[in-house]
Amino acid sequence: AQEIFIAPSVLSADFARLGAECDDVLEAGADMIHLDIMDNHYVPNLTVGPMVCRALRDYGIRAPIDVHLMVDPVDELIVQFAEAGASFISIHPEATRHLDRSLQLIRDLGCKAGLVLNPGTSVGVARQVLSRLDLLLVMSVNPGFGGQTFISYTLDKLREARQLIDESGLPIRLEVDGGVKVHNISDVARAGADTFVVGSAIFGAVSYAEVLRQLRVAVHG
Ligand code: DX5
Ligand code: ZN
Repeated sequence: AQEIFIAPSVLSADFARLGAECDDVLEAGADMIHLDIMDNHYVPNLTVGPMVCRALRDYGIRAPIDVHLMVDPVDELIVQFAEAGASFISIHPEATRHLDRSLQLIRDLGCKAGLVLNPGTSVGVARQVLSRLDLLLVMSVNPGFGGQTFISYTLDKLREARQLIDESGLPIRLEVDGGVKVHNISDVARAGADTFVVGSAIFGAVSYAEVLRQLRVAVHG
């Protein structure tokens, strides 16, 4: 198993002071910054584009930036986010005509490639393209909004995804995104996740460091 990563989703941060929010959460012990990109087409919400990723790099954020693309079509934005300093770029299979080609594009641009499975999307979609992946992201809510409730059947999908990764022997991170809180992160970790996106539970708290500490205790305990 890989080292645990906690990736705060800045969707629930104060966007008027995004650089400082990233500094604060990294200072508080976060491992990377999760940036949710929504286009009001693939998902019914709209966030920010590659300029904001570039702005965070120029501001001085050195930690990995985990870009979650919820956009259709996706290929042009893969290129733009790679140029804007993304570390991981994750895409949804429904948002590209040619999944294998889009995943190869991410790696060709020097980024780590992620595949995102919506709650209703089968783990089997990942099977053929495993050799193209650095990360497999299991959505535990339907994409589009922070602050939604964890869908419990996705624990079974995490177990299935963990088995698939372990059988392959490939160094693929298993990430979970949506509704992860202090009270359920131990179940999520036991199901096989090693990378945890946490949005509202961190940015809704008074002390980011205290929530991050509680999340890590719950994972290891
Ligand atoms: C949902 C996003 C998530 C979301 C997580 O589409 O992909 O990253 O912001 O937020 P919480 O932890 O509040 O569910
Ligand atoms: Zn996300």
